[in-house]
Amino acid sequence: MGSSTRLEGKIALVTGASRGLGRHIAAALAAAGANVAVNYAYSVQDAEETVRLITSAGGSAFAFRADITSEGEVSELIERVEKHFGGSIDILVNNATGPQPMLSIEESTWQTYLDQLDFFVKAPLLLAKAVLPGMKVKREGSIIHIGSEVVQIGNANFSSYVTAKASMVGMTRSWASELGPHGIRVNLVAPGWIPVERHEGVSTEGYQAGVPLGRVGEPADIANAVVFLASSESGFVTGQCLSVNGGNTFGI
Ligand SMILES: NC(=O)c1ccc[n+]([C@@H]2O[C@H](COP(=O)([O-])OP(=O)(O)OC[C@H]3O[C@@H](n4cnc5c(N)ncnc54)[C@H](OP(=O)(O)O)[C@@H]3O)[C@@H](O)[C@H]2O)c1
Repeated sequence: MGSSTRLEGKIALVTGASRGLGRHIAAALAAAGANVAVNYAYSVQDAEETVRLITSAGGSAFAFRADITSEGEVSELIERVEKHFGGSIDILVNNATGPQPMLSIEESTWQTYLDQLDFFVKAPLLLAKAVLPGMKVKREGSIIHIGSEVVQIGNANFSSYVTAKASMVGMTRSWASELGPHGIRVNLVAPGWIPVERHEGVSTEGYQAGVPLGRVGEPADIANAVVFLASSESGFVTGQCLSVNGGNTFGI
């Protein structure tokens, strides 16, 4: 992706940006001019590599460790980011994920559901509560949830993940209604299968045969959609779910 000045001066926080989609989203936001907080929980070297990729391309980024499912760590994270970049956060991308186990209903427990809700409901709520005061003062902000096409597909043996991702859709719409009057937009990007490091060696052949555009996605496909939703080019778009999956599903 080439560089631009669309997000010049903005401060963005991308959760789970040490690898996978988060790394590419962070890089794309930085290439558009944003100062990017690269969040991670465990993989410090990978997070530093994301920062190195961004800064060696002339962008602005810094790595911040925090478990985004922990209330105390989230409020400390936001304080550190805002102190480091000297301003309040303009763009929040809720991207981080923990393990996503495939489990039948019989194998599932309330805890396996809670594990997914921790990432896709609790963490976005904690983060939003911490960034909203700054966004409300500025009367501007963009919150972007990374959802999934699984909400439309309803994959079997995956109900804890599917349920938690579906909750993000409700959150997107309710928050958009509540925050619109404050100039804050809330949208969701729903990726199809986008192979990242954790999918190495897995064949995409069967999946892509069913995709109208005939391929799996690339991380840049998601990153481009996030930059659009973060920028004023989407200034009249809120409460929307944008599927980025080559037409594998329609609507949410
Ligand atoms: N890739 C796909 O095909 C696909 C499809 C649909 C939706 N999605 C969604 O896209 C998002 C990114 O997926 P991905 O495939 O890029 O995942 P990934 O490669 O597994 O990366 C997950 C990221 O989350 C971080 N993380 C894990 N636990 C954390 C915690 N407690 N606090 C903060 N960060 C934490 C990891 O960093 P550390 O190791 O440093 O903790 C890592 O940077 C997820 O929401 C996923 O559900 C992905």
